[in-house]
Amino acid sequence: MTHFMLKEIHEQPDVIRRLLDRSISIEKVDRINILACGTSLNAGLIGQSLFEQVAKIPTQIRSSSESIYAPLIETPNTLTIAITQSGETADTIAALTTVRSKRIAITNGIDSTITKLVDQTIYTNAGEEKSVAATKTFTAQLVVLYQLAFHLANQEAQWLREIPQQIEAILKKNTIAEIAKSLENTRNLIVIGSGINTAIAFEGALKLKEVTYIHAEGCAAGEFLHGPIALLDPQIPTIAIGNVKKTIDRIRVNQNSVIEIPTPAIPELFTPFLTVIPLQLLAYELAILRKIDVDRPRNITKSLTT
Ligand code: AGP
Repeated sequence: MTHFMLKEIHEQPDVIRRLLDRSISIEKVDRINILACGTSLNAGLIGQSLFEQVAKIPTQIRSSSESIYAPLIETPNTLTIAITQSGETADTIAALTTVRSKRIAITNGIDSTITKLVDQTIYTNAGEEKSVAATKTFTAQLVVLYQLAFHLANQEAQWLREIPQQIEAILKKNTIAEIAKSLENTRNLIVIGSGINTAIAFEGALKLKEVTYIHAEGCAAGEFLHGPIALLDPQIPTIAIGNVKKTIDRIRVNQNSVIEIPTPAIPELFTPFLTVIPLQLLAYELAILRKIDVDRPRNITKSLTT
């Protein structure tokens, strides 16, 4: 494949398959704190939903850079989870050094700085990710978070086994090129999702910003009606993930356009693995149409170490 980003998007089924054959175990805790940045922070938001909804453990999440101003509350039995693709992100390193509770890292960075700061490392084993925009490391982080949450709940995350083949089906069918063509000259985009897919709206918008330079905003579908909808005009399309009919209807009343990402036929809790794929592909296809150096977009580096 011509670009690392596309190659890495296509590697996701195999990365996930490999992780499924591994068992993960951690001790019971009564509170979880998550620290991360960027795409890893979006994975963390999904982790927060899982720890709260599946494992019933109160969970706080904060961007590592913000946690310096407002540290998360720790109890004697809190577990802090740092999520970082590289293991070298300065903000997450700084945030971790102030933490007193037990620390776990979820990282793809073998022997990275963060692995030396924590009590336990869970590797995402996604293989080197060369594209600046994270794709396969994001879904690998999700697998680990699902495994941890279901482990803490003494349950099996059985639906994870269905994910690789369902991603393959989406990649094979790939209907994104046509949508990308229709958005080639768009300057602003809104991405909405709800529940566990709100984080995918954020992640989709982040991917679009990073590699297409289109101003893309991720928003919770319900919250979108409380103000941001005022932004819309016929030149600003909305991409809608999942079951957000009320918001879609309100957007269409004024002839504004909505592109719907189909709802996968699996329990909603597991859909983030599948809803993120079309958004990754859309960001890639749009970057190519807009003649952007997709693997090395301007102003960002693979890891922010200062
Ligand atoms: C992802 O596409 C970005 N390049 C960026 O947001 C990244 O996720 C962030 O800087 C955090 O990096 P890390 O996961 O290596 O800590």
